Amino acid sequence: MHIPETGSSALRLLAFLALINFVVPQCSRKSSPVIFNFGDSNSDTGGFIAGVGLDIGYPYGRTFFRRPTGRASDGRLVIDFLCEYLGTHYLSPYLDSLEPDFTNGANFAIVGATILPKYVPFNLGIQILQFKHFYNRSIELHSRGRMNLLGKDDFKNALYTLDIGQNDLSGSFGSLSYAQVIEKIPSFISEIKDAMWAIYELGGRNFWVHNTGPLGCLPRELAIRSSGNASDYDEYGCMKSLNEGAKAFNGKLQALCGELRSQMQNSTIVYVDVYSIKADLRHIIDKRVMGSLALPTLRNTMSCRSRCRSPRLRQGTELLLQQPFWGHSLNRLRGKRV
Ligand SMILES: *[C@@H]1O[C@H](CO)[C@@H](O)[C@H](O)[C@H]1NC(C)=O
Ligand SMILES: *[C@@H]1O[C@H](CO)[C@@H](O)[C@H](O)[C@H]1NC(C)=O
Ligand SMILES: *[C@@H]1O[C@H](CO)[C@@H](O)[C@H](O)[C@H]1NC(C)=O
Repeated sequence: MHIPETGSSALRLLAFLALINFVVPQCSRKSSPVIFNFGDSNSDTGGFIAGVGLDIGYPYGRTFFRRPTGRASDGRLVIDFLCEYLGTHYLSPYLDSLEPDFTNGANFAIVGATILPKYVPFNLGIQILQFKHFYNRSIELHSRGRMNLLGKDDFKNALYTLDIGQNDLSGSFGSLSYAQVIEKIPSFISEIKDAMWAIYELGGRNFWVHNTGPLGCLPRELAIRSSGNASDYDEYGCMKSLNEGAKAFNGKLQALCGELRSQMQNSTIVYVDVYSIKADLRHIIDKRVMGSLALPTLRNTMSCRSRCRSPRLRQGTELLLQQPFWGHSLNRLRGKRV
């Protein structure tokens, strides 16, 4: 699929890749970099189906893996492209009990995960507890000679990636007023702060923090919410209030990264502006897809599974997936013809 690119998204991507290069050489004591990921469906590589046993069936997985893999995507996720770019294999979900390969880290992300409430499987706090357990067991077994597991230095040099908050915002907008949603944001950020400190205390020094995307442009959000008032939507057919909420969350997250950068000695904290990258996609996408299709059709569609199979809907969903955009851009940067 050909997707024309805007200059600014290409520039952002270059900045993104330059930053990866900046962070990662420190991660390569072994030949392969080590990554630990925490988050939700944006980066779940199979944790949900391993943990809960509920299948995530077709059309997920059909464009790249040619079978459902537990990813809530037709193809690969940003975390997969990150692994490819760094020359390492895809991350095994922490909960995968069948032949996981943890030599390059582990993925704790789970579809649907939120930051709050705490101690509900598999929210951020639980993912951090799982990480602590994983850390203890790895160190213990590694010291007994299990070389396919990671040692202390690997945890210290690893890249820690976080991408969470979208479900908290989505859930909050479902039940609260705009002002109440904004009021809740500091409590989300505070949990992310605790999570990052917990990682730091176990030796983690390299953080890669994704902000949250334009929530008001997600087909799912447009499907489950509706407003008869045209002024609730922007020129692309996205819901303004949800996007404003996402931006407010991101402002606080960016401030947190700045704060922790000055407090966490020897750390590298990269705040990745996923919102802008995805918002650029919105400019690329044909307005007919976002506008006329997103509003009347998607609004009547609760979820994007069996009810989501009309060709026009599929087209819209495909355009919104990261896979073509990232694949195309990464290959182009590597000088390959795509
Ligand atoms: C990990 O080990 C430390 C030190 O032995 C212990 O204090 C801690 O409770 C353990 N944590 C987990 C999650 O097992
Ligand atoms: C639509 O929303 C705007 C701004 O919130 C408000 O001023 C206007 O009265 C609303 N129109 C209708 C028909 O509800
Ligand atoms: C920071 O790095 C220096 C130099 O490697 C080291 O001596 C110091 O213990 C480190 N501090 C922390 C908190 O990691």
